[in-house]
Amino acid sequence: MTDASPRSVPLNSAGVQRCIRPACGASFGIRERIYVCGNCGGPLEIAAPLPPASEASALRARWSARAASLDPRDRSGVWRFRELLPFGDAAPIVTLAEGNTPLYDAPRCAKYSGLDTLRLKHQGCNPTGSFKDTGMTTCVTQAVLLGARTVVCASTGNTSASLAAYAARAALQCAILLPRGQITSSKLAQSVDYGAIVCEIDGNFDDCMRLIREIAEDPSIYLANSINPFRIEGQKTVAFELMEQCEWRVPDHVVVPGGNMGNSSALGKGFEEMRQLGLVERLPKLSVIQAEGAAPLARLFASLQEESKSDRTLISEELTPVENPQTLATAIKIGSPVSWEKALRSVLRSQGQVITIGEQEIADAKAMIGRDGVGCEPASATTIAGIRKLAGAGFIRRGESVVAVLTGHLLKDPDYVSQYHRGTLSLNPGTTQREAESKLIKGAFRNAPIQVAASKNAILDQLRRANS
Ligand code: F0G
Repeated sequence: MTDASPRSVPLNSAGVQRCIRPACGASFGIRERIYVCGNCGGPLEIAAPLPPASEASALRARWSARAASLDPRDRSGVWRFRELLPFGDAAPIVTLAEGNTPLYDAPRCAKYSGLDTLRLKHQGCNPTGSFKDTGMTTCVTQAVLLGARTVVCASTGNTSASLAAYAARAALQCAILLPRGQITSSKLAQSVDYGAIVCEIDGNFDDCMRLIREIAEDPSIYLANSINPFRIEGQKTVAFELMEQCEWRVPDHVVVPGGNMGNSSALGKGFEEMRQLGLVERLPKLSVIQAEGAAPLARLFASLQEESKSDRTLISEELTPVENPQTLATAIKIGSPVSWEKALRSVLRSQGQVITIGEQEIADAKAMIGRDGVGCEPASATTIAGIRKLAGAGFIRRGESVVAVLTGHLLKDPDYVSQYHRGTLSLNPGTTQREAESKLIKGAFRNAPIQVAASKNAILDQLRRANS
C-alpha cells in the first residue's frame, strides 16, 4: 500500500446497515445477511463513520498516490478509495481491476445538446463492459466474508455478466435469472462463458426480480442485485473517481440513465459523502433519464412536481409500477425499480430531475456519441438525449459543466447499432414484416456499409462522393 502522507487514516470496517426511511431508521449489523429493513421492509444503506474532515486533504493525496502503486487494491478504481468502504484491511477482496474509467470531452455531443462543453464518464470501459463491476467487486467480497456458497441475481444482462465474472474469480456458484428473449446475445454470451447457471424464464425483468428475492431467502444463497447495499458501496466510488478527474471542481450537472435505480442511488451517496467530508463544497444536480415506455420514477417525479410536495412527504409516496415496460434499450426495460426511494432522495437532495425520452431520440443520441469516437449501448445514450431535452427546457444552461455517465459498452448490443445504421431498427421487432416496417426508427445519423467493387478506382470514387 502506498501512503502519500505519514498521517494514517483508519480503514472503515465499522458501521451498520440502516433503513433509509426517516420514520423508521432501524439499524442492523454490518455482517447480517439482509437486503431490506427487518422492521418496515424499507431500503437499507450502509452507514459507516466517515473520516474527520480534517483528514480530507490527506485522503485526497493518498488516493491519487495509489494510482502509481502495483498493489491489486490500488489497481482497482474501487478499492483505491477503501477508507470509505465498509470493509476491514484484511478483507478477502475479489477484484478484476475495475473502475479507473476514462472521462472524455465530447464536442459533437455538446453541440448536439446546445452546450459549450460536455464530458462522458465511460463506465462501459470496465472489465465486463458495464458499470456493474464497480459494485460487484464489493458485493462478491461481502458474499465471501459471509461464507455464501451461491450468488444469484435477476438481470437485463449486465448485472448477470458482471456477477458471473466476479463469482468465477471467487470460485462461487452463480445462478442468474433472465427474461427469455429480452437479453442481447453479447450479454448472454458473457454469462455462459463465465460459467454461470443461466435460467431464462417466461416473464419480464420485474418477474425475475420477484422470484430471485424469494430464492435468496435460503441462507446459503446471496443476492447480488442493487437492492443489496454492498453493491451501492462499490458503485458510489465512481463519484469519487469522477471528482478526482474533475480536479475536485464540482460539475453543475451529472446525468445518468435510470433502470432499477442502483446507479443513481450510488452516485448520490458518493457525492453526499464527499460533501460531508468537505472534499467538495456542493452537490452536482443529479438527473435521471428513463425511456418513455419504462418510466415509473419519471411519472412519480412529474406528479410530485405538479403537486409541489415537500421533501418529507415525497419519500413516503408509493411508486406505481409500469406493468408491461417497453424500450429497445433493453438494459433499462424495468417497470418496478427496487431502489427508487434511494434514487429519488438523491435527485431531490441535489435538485436534479427525472425525465423521459423517446426511442428515436435515444437512437440518434447514441449515434452522436459514436461520432465523438465513443461507443456505448442504447441505455447509456438516454443521457445525451436527456441532456439535450433538459438544455432545451432551460434546466441546463449553455455554459454549465455537464457530465453524462455512459453505463455500458457499444459491443453489448451490436445488433441495435447495425439495425440503426441500416435503417431496419424497429419499435415493433419480432412481429410481421409489415408491422415492423410501420414502426421503423428513422435514424438521423445513419451510416450503412456500402457494397463497393474490389477496385482501387471504385473505392476512391466512394471517398470522393462522401467528401462532396
Ligand atoms: N445502463 C445499463 C447499460 C444497464 O445495464 C442498466 C441496468 C442501467 C443503465 C440502469 O442502471 O439499474 O442502476 O438504474 N441494468 C441492470 C441489469 C438492471 O440487470 O443489468 P440502474
